[in-house]
Amino acid sequence: MSRQLSRTDYLIHQFDTILRTLVPHAATASRANPAAGTQDKAMSDAERRHAAGLMRINHTGEVCAQALYQGQGLTAKLHETRDQMEQAAAEEIDHLAWCDERLRELDSRTSYLNPAFYAASFGMGALAGKLGDNISLGFVAATEEQVGRHLDDHMHKLPMGDRRSRAVLEQMRTDEAHHERWALEAGGARFPAPLKLGMRLMSKVMTKSVYTL
Ligand SMILES: [Fe+2]
Ligand SMILES: [Fe+2]
Repeated sequence: MSRQLSRTDYLIHQFDTILRTLVPHAATASRANPAAGTQDKAMSDAERRHAAGLMRINHTGEVCAQALYQGQGLTAKLHETRDQMEQAAAEEIDHLAWCDERLRELDSRTSYLNPAFYAASFGMGALAGKLGDNISLGFVAATEEQVGRHLDDHMHKLPMGDRRSRAVLEQMRTDEAHHERWALEAGGARFPAPLKLGMRLMSKVMTKSVYTL
């Protein structure tokens, strides 16, 4: 049975999502952790710190994904694709929770900069939503393409012994490729190269700062 959400319900739901995204350990995954049953091989302290830096970047990427979906949800019409977008956003919560869990296993933490990246991504999502559904979906596709490239790079850079982080990233890679395909099939505009370059530069700022902060 479905019912129309009242404005108060909606605001509570939004606020709940913000808290679950930004408060460490508050997100819970709906699917089993892909690393369950996988054992790490021996890693030095330096390797564990490096793995944590990479997983912190991936975690912040998922914070941005939540904010992006939420910002778009506020302004985009998306009559036919809202269900799929909500499904994708739910999968991003799994990613967020898995990265958070892995950071804890590595005796590390999420980034101090997450609130700032959340705010920026929320704004960009809301703006894309205002510009029309094809732009909004195109933005999802371009973002997922970029995230996919990051994940490939990180799977390459992770220490050989870090098999649990790798298991998480492999599942995320599969999900992100699926999100990208869906957004393009749903009518997402293919972003021109200069726009994609701008997005890549922004993500460089994020990765450089979040690796340590
Ligand atoms: Fe994700
Ligand atoms: Fe995604």
